Amino acid sequence: MTGGYLDDTRAGYDATAAAYADRFHHWLDRKPVELAVLQAFAGLVGAGGHILDVGCGTGATTALFARHGARVTGIDLSPNMIGEARRRNPQLDFRVGAMAHLDVDDGSSDGLCAWYSVIHVPDDDLDAVFAEFHRVLRPGGLLLLAFQVGDRPRILDEAFGTTVSLVFHRRTPEQIVAAARRHGFTPYVDMVREPDDDGLESTPQAFLIVRRSTAF
Ligand SMILES: C[S@@+](CC[C@H](N)C(=O)[O-])C[C@H]1O[C@@H](n2cnc3c(N)ncnc32)[C@H](O)[C@@H]1O
Repeated sequence: MTGGYLDDTRAGYDATAAAYADRFHHWLDRKPVELAVLQAFAGLVGAGGHILDVGCGTGATTALFARHGARVTGIDLSPNMIGEARRRNPQLDFRVGAMAHLDVDDGSSDGLCAWYSVIHVPDDDLDAVFAEFHRVLRPGGLLLLAFQVGDRPRILDEAFGTTVSLVFHRRTPEQIVAAARRHGFTPYVDMVREPDDDGLESTPQAFLIVRRSTAF
């Protein structure tokens, strides 16, 4: 560890952004289940609705939502990941920011996507993140989460030939649903698929959609 988890995560993605983009930007093209989940989410939010894509990385999911008629904003901790997102999608709105402190008005989003990004948030900070997601979503707004299922973290000290300090917190759907419920979300879709046989996945993958309470 070099600093707090935010510094380590930012540094890890800054150092590997170009290689990450080369490897993963078109990843969804080979993932029909993920595509179906993301398209379903865009459909639930509805054309013209605003989706905040938090931990947007290179902007692949942000661009997908935009193609489905959503107004989009992508936010990521790593300036270099945001650079890759802007280069690939110059017409879309991308900003650097941290998910526990979003520079976004209360109740201003119809949907919030956290696609493999809360995986970098330690347990102690998860409540602050869900409280922030609740704040920025309108009453009845939808939150989509994707994460690796498991009960112990994966710690990476090297990625794409570069030294990093990245922690991937694997969790059960029950843990994430419990955190969401504590902050006024109700489960709507709760889905797990087994690992693909591609040599890269070693855990099941979870996709959850929860709905923000209608009360402010
Ligand atoms: C595994 S990548 C996923 C990127 C993208 N969602 C995708 O599926 O390609 C995790 C991303 O979350 C971002 N991230 C991690 N912690 C974050 C935080 N606290 N606030 C905002 N972004 C964060 C990282 O910088 C990184 O781009």
